[in-house]
Order: sequence, then C-alpha cells, then structure tokens
Amino acid sequence: MNSNGSWKDKLARRNHLGSWVSTLRTEGTRPTISFGGGLPDPASLPTEALAKSINYVLKNHSEAALQYGGTEGYEGLRELLAKKLSENGTTLKASNFVIVNGASSALAHACSLFIDPGDTVILEDPSYSGSISTIKFAEAKMVGVTMEPGGLDMEMLGKKLKELAKEKISPKFFYSIPNFHNPMGSTMSLEKRKALLEYAREYDFLIIEDETYTALRFDGNPVPSMYILDKGHRVIQIGTFSKTLAPGLRLGWVMGNEEIIEYITSRRTDMGSSPLIARAIAQFIQDGHYEPHLAKVIDIYRRKRDTLIAGLGERCANLAQWTAPEGGFFLWLNLKKDIDPQMLRQAGAEEGVSVITGSNFYLNGGGKDKVRMAFSYVSQNQIEEGVVRVDKVLRRLLSSSKSK
Ligand SMILES: Cc1ncc(COP(=O)(O)O)c(C=O)c1O
Repeated sequence: MNSNGSWKDKLARRNHLGSWVSTLRTEGTRPTISFGGGLPDPASLPTEALAKSINYVLKNHSEAALQYGGTEGYEGLRELLAKKLSENGTTLKASNFVIVNGASSALAHACSLFIDPGDTVILEDPSYSGSISTIKFAEAKMVGVTMEPGGLDMEMLGKKLKELAKEKISPKFFYSIPNFHNPMGSTMSLEKRKALLEYAREYDFLIIEDETYTALRFDGNPVPSMYILDKGHRVIQIGTFSKTLAPGLRLGWVMGNEEIIEYITSRRTDMGSSPLIARAIAQFIQDGHYEPHLAKVIDIYRRKRDTLIAGLGERCANLAQWTAPEGGFFLWLNLKKDIDPQMLRQAGAEEGVSVITGSNFYLNGGGKDKVRMAFSYVSQNQIEEGVVRVDKVLRRLLSSSKSK
C-alpha cells in the first residue's frame, strides 16, 4: 500500500465514523481469563458432527454445494427454519427467509434496504456495539431510548416519538434485542412488546427484532416474538447460528414477509451465502444433531451463569448489583461507582482478566458505572478464579476513584 497514505483520501465518508472490529479481534486470544467477547464455549463447538455433515454434503451434493447457490440461500435450510420458527398458529414458509452471513449481515441488508443517509433509526440504549456500528455506517441518525431494569422505558419512547413527529420525522425502524439483550441480558416483557408494536402502528415504523440469543433460554417461559404478535406485517426478524452452533459458519437469516424477502434477495450483489455451509447445517439438523447440541449448550451456559453469579455474590455484592439473565451470554453489572474505562482495561490486563466497560454500548456516553461480563467463553473452572480477579480489579478502581 502506498506509504504516503493517499488511499485514505479515497475512503468513503462513512469510514470516518470509526471502527469497532479491532477490539473484537483481540478478545479471547490474550492469556487472560476472558469475560470480554460474546463467543461460544470453545469446548462445545460441534466439530466432529459438522465435519460429518460437510463430508456428506461434499460426497453427495458436491456440485450444488460448490457452485453458486442463489441469493435466497439453500431452500432445504429455509424450509427447516420455517418449520422450527413457526409458532402460535403462524405458519412460516421457506419464502419468508433469506440466508445471509450471520445476524450482523442480516442487519446490514435491512439497513441497505431501508436507510438513506440522514434517516432516523430508534434503538435501545445501550445496545450491541456491532449493530450500532452497522446502523451508523448506513449513515442513519440514531435515537436511543433508555433501558430500565425491566426493559425499554416506554414513556420515554412515547415522548421521543412525539418530538420526532413534531419535526415531521418518521423513523424508518426500531432495532431491538428483545431476548437476553446484549449487553444487558434482559428480556422484554409481553406488555412492552405489545406497547412497542402499538407505537410502531401509530407512528408507522418497522421493527427489526434481533433474535441472536433467543434459542439459548435457560429458565423461565418464552415470550412470543413481536414478529408472531404482529403476524409479520411490520416486523422483520434476524437470526443466526453463531451462538447456537459456531460463529465461524457465518450463517444467519432474515425472516420477513415474502415481499420484503424478495426485495432483499433481488437486490443482493454478493452472490449469496455459502451453499456448502447452508447444506451442511441442514444436514446437521436432519441427522438429529441440532436439538441435543442445543440442550447441551443451554445446560453449559446455565451452569456458567450460576457459577458466575454465586462467585460474584460471595465477593462483589458490596461493589455491584446485577440481575440474573434467563438466557444468552451476558451478565450486566451496575457498579457502585463510575469507572474510568481506560483504568478498567489496564487493571484488567494487569490482573489477567478482561471484561467490557458499559460505555462501549451507549449511543451518547454513559455506562461508566456498568460492566458487561460474558460467561459464555470462559471455562467453568476459570470462572471462580476470574471472579477473584474481577473483584481485585473493581476494588483497585474503587480505591483509585476514592483517592481522586
Ligand atoms: C445482538 C447481536 N446481534 C448480532 C450479532 C452478530 O452475530 P453474527 O455472528 O450472526 O453476525 C451479535 C454478536 O455478538 C449480537 O450479540
């Protein structure tokens, strides 16, 4: 690359909006106990069964697997998804799905379909930093709505919608992570889902429902999705096999009414997602590996969550508060004091533990008294020692903030 950096003059405007990927790349590779990235349990990655599925596909459907597969994605997998995700009397069809490269790519497709630069998107504040970046790179204006411990602050949403309407601004969509929220771990109640849908109808915006963690429920009862409550009129769902199977598969989907799916499919310029991987996952499901694998990982994550909460309860109860998530990968700590994010990173590196400061997930600052701990990646044995280190880090930060 030209060393005088002239290629940088050619960068599209949106690239000056920042980058987040480099922080992810280092997660899990440091010789620390990592409560950082939302990565699946490494020991449970279904390597052997996937290898069998991939081999089977290559042996029996090599041409279909290795040629271009079409922008809608392998029909067999879309049919399986339709069967799996139909609930409460709503019957989904393969044509309600397009296969994409993970939930992040699903959101990018939705953004490219709906967002012109300067359009308004509403989202939960805090929200998943990768999704914030995707929406930012689409050059949307983001309006955040505060999250309360029990979910979205509906009164605030109502107020913001009124303010926007006064300015004649009609938001394009609301991006929500209703189940086992990243970073908060919380689940949106049925009442709040219904209220959000009411607002969507009144103020005429779409809802993008990110179901990345939905299949990983440890306890409590599932809450009907907004897609199902709305019968797919103004809700688009995005999902992924990244957390249930493996993120390296890079396989997810957009689920929506047939017209929306047709729009995404026909405007796609990346020639579709990998037919080999889509067929291998379908084979994996058909061979009966998926459900037992899911049950196994749910059990693993439930035990990890419980060990983490028990450890924190013993050591850190006077430093922070938290609510046990009913599923997913994350525990959200409310600290008794603000922390300096730089100090958290540095102290964590010195003590050999990584967590993520809440400020990474907020739109306009905030979150300096919050910490996200992913319990998914650390081994069960590491959690106790990890909590000892987190306790040391928090005490160090607390005493340094006292002495200021
Ligand atoms: C809420 C949420 N959405 C989307 C993603 C991206 O997932 P994928 O690997 O399917 O692109 C993540 C990953 O952490 C996430 O937490």
